[in-house]
Amino acid sequence: MGAKLAVLISGRGSNMQCIVNACEKGDINAEVCLVASDRADAGGLAWAAQRGIATAVINPKDYQHRDDADKAMAAQIKAHGSTHLLLAGYMRILSEEFVAQFSGRALNIHPSLLPKYKGLNSHARALAAGDQECGATVHFVSAALDSGPAVIQAKVMIEPSDDAETLAAKVLCLEHIIYPKATQWLVTDRLVLEDNKARLDNQLLETPRQYSVA
Ligand code: GAR
Repeated sequence: MGAKLAVLISGRGSNMQCIVNACEKGDINAEVCLVASDRADAGGLAWAAQRGIATAVINPKDYQHRDDADKAMAAQIKAHGSTHLLLAGYMRILSEEFVAQFSGRALNIHPSLLPKYKGLNSHARALAAGDQECGATVHFVSAALDSGPAVIQAKVMIEPSDDAETLAAKVLCLEHIIYPKATQWLVTDRLVLEDNKARLDNQLLETPRQYSVA
């Protein structure tokens, strides 16, 4: 059985689109079986539907308890036969119970050089701190926000002319490279989570793999 990816988004879904395209090109040995969101107005949903991909909206506001929304989302993911889960700009904190169900099979991408700047406004925070570089990190999903063992990072220099918007655009270009790459490692079992540590090709990733453009 081939790998089936459920991708969760909250917005435009450009990372999700890259994943779909990489699957279609054969760069990822998987298919995207579901694109789901907490927001009905997430732009990526329409894009996915146009490509014939199943979509779902689980709006936490429709549920009395946050955990119930997570349960409904997990049920959708399972109903579509998903083997793996990708968070791609999904802006909700997931319950421990939800995360445990996908342990070792779920990745997230975050626009910072983790462990720096978890949460929101990571680009603005890197600028405000006077950092010389920033970037993006793909990591295994754990219950804590933007945590979990890091797999791969890509860095970009911060230029004096950069603002949060230009920086976000530069970092996003790198996200579009490293997320499909890490996903392919995961679905081909090159990347595994063991004892809460990431291993790539049987090597412990003490630090995340560094992607360089050259
Ligand atoms: C991306 O920059 C992603 O790294 C970030 O949201 C953006 C979604 O863009 N995710 C987080 O901040 C998660 N904490 P996209 O919808 O175009 O993929």
